[in-house]
Amino acid sequence: MKGLILSGGKGTRMRPLTFTSAKQLIPVANKPVLVYGIEAIVAAGIQDIAIIVSPETGPEIRQNVGDGSRYGANVHYIEQDAPRGLAHAVLTAEEFLGDSPFVMYLGDNLLQHGITPLVEEYRSLECNSEILLTKVPNPQSFGVAELSADGKVIQLTEKPPEPKSDLALVGVYMFDQHIFEAAKAIKPSKRGELEITDAIQWLLDNGYSVHPHIVKGWWKDTGKIEDMLEANRTVLDTFDRDVRGTSSGESQIEGKVVIEDGAQIIDSVVRGPAIIGRDARIIHAYVGPYTSIGNKCVVEQCEIENSIVLENSSIKHVDGRIEASLIGKNVKIGRTHRKPAAYRFMLGDNSEVGIT
Ligand code: TTP
Repeated sequence: MKGLILSGGKGTRMRPLTFTSAKQLIPVANKPVLVYGIEAIVAAGIQDIAIIVSPETGPEIRQNVGDGSRYGANVHYIEQDAPRGLAHAVLTAEEFLGDSPFVMYLGDNLLQHGITPLVEEYRSLECNSEILLTKVPNPQSFGVAELSADGKVIQLTEKPPEPKSDLALVGVYMFDQHIFEAAKAIKPSKRGELEITDAIQWLLDNGYSVHPHIVKGWWKDTGKIEDMLEANRTVLDTFDRDVRGTSSGESQIEGKVVIEDGAQIIDSVVRGPAIIGRDARIIHAYVGPYTSIGNKCVVEQCEIENSIVLENSSIKHVDGRIEASLIGKNVKIGRTHRKPAAYRFMLGDNSEVGIT
């Protein structure tokens, strides 16, 4: 089998971070979301992986993932000229996939238990496609599957206003080569994309077998900031305590905390679950539960929790606690002594600042 990871797209819901970076490279517990996908595919015994990239995300993703050897994978890159839909992305990879069955993995998705049992089930069932489903409270935001009383897939609909079930399609799919026929037969949807739900519906309508699998553990789609923070909380909860950096002065490190090599905790409290990245410095500060501080960040004289801070950022001398925040790379938040005493911002387009 081969692997196909979709990491093109626009990432409009994650602006402004996605103006300068691929959303699939935003870290959850200090590891890019995309890497969880690569590791899950390799763990299922698949090494030959193609990553679909956009002209914008391509260079950064190539730079970060390389040839994939450090993950035990053999990674190829395929550029999709524009985000024309998930089924279009599949067609872009037709030459690479050939007649091999493959697992398609959305590069911004995370699955608790990985995909090994699913890949094994697909191999043993010999069906044309296997889809993953999970119950969600808001099915109108997803591709939704309607199942018959005996558990067969009857119909798939993309973001239906009146969903017939609460079973949403999870971003991992197994296909054989018939999916190319399907993707070529369908027409773009109202939003102008070749929808994978329409392609799978075509398989059903044309007598091909599509097996549904209900996912047991958690599944996260990290398309929006709230999802990112939730994924971060969920992954941090699975960590064990591992303190490799140093702590000094009046510091307290409480609970499940990972402090990476070279990090320094000085006169500070770090309360887990939390991770402090390599060479980061936490000085006279409080880092509370569900926080990931990236490599080389400085957090000084401030309090932060339930947040993600990307590498090389500094947050200093902030009154009041920072909460539920996603702070990009190389960001500086601090006090100035300039007059008049006032807030001074330099924010990219679509930035959000909340002041109480
Ligand atoms: P989405 O999250 O549906 O789309 P998006 O990344 O453009 O985000 P937004 O809606 O905020 O603008 O895409 C799911 C995954 O599939 C994501 O990793 C991007 C990828 N993708 C492609 O590779 N090609 C495509 O044509 C599309 C639509 C998505």
